[in-house]
Amino acid sequence: MIFITFEGPEGSGKTTQIDKLQKYLNKTGFTTIKTREPGGSPIAEKIRELLLDPANKEMAAATELLLYLASRAQHVRDKILPALKKGKVVLCDRFNDSTLAYQGYARGFSKEIIEKFNNFAAGGLKPDLTIYLDLDVKLGLKRAHKRAGKKDRLELEKKAFHEKVRKGYLAIAKKEPGRIKIIDGLASREEITDKIAVFVDRKLKNAGKNSRTC
Ligand code: TMP
Repeated sequence: MIFITFEGPEGSGKTTQIDKLQKYLNKTGFTTIKTREPGGSPIAEKIRELLLDPANKEMAAATELLLYLASRAQHVRDKILPALKKGKVVLCDRFNDSTLAYQGYARGFSKEIIEKFNNFAAGGLKPDLTIYLDLDVKLGLKRAHKRAGKKDRLELEKKAFHEKVRKGYLAIAKKEPGRIKIIDGLASREEITDKIAVFVDRKLKNAGKNSRTC
């Protein structure tokens, strides 16, 4: 039915906000699923383990890019498309824009190539709406570390890498203001939740896709 993605640098609070949005939509009568990338379906979760395991520090950047795409190819076909076909609202923690920000802007792969690869992996599927939670890199990394205790392979990257990711996101958002809504991650949790609800309500209304399930 409608495909909503959440993006942001490390520790930007996406997970909390996805949970809150899911509760809100369920209460309003929509059927939703919550999922994530990398991962989201059994095979894709195995690829996630490979990608995030800090022991895999020798992973080549090209391998990393292809594994993120492989995870997406599987996830889209196993989970996202079937849910959309059933009329569900799909809430996904990270998607194509993460690949462009992390592997494109931060690792330095050609953005044109990544856009083509993204399109191939997702079978042409694009989000209807993307919520980008923007946050200072230092603060985000501190929050992420506090939450998880142990750093994953990507979190172990230097601050300069994560600064490039954030700059990349802001550049991507600037190019697609219709789809990507920037929200200040420093605002209070409640304020962020309310802002997201406004964007989502508007999208659901505009799409004329408010066929409730109850
Ligand atoms: P997270 O699910 O805990 O946010 O961790 C996923 C990590 O993978 C995060 O550091 C962002 C990174 N990532 C990429 O580098 N490229 C991608 O395409 C995706 C989906 C995630």
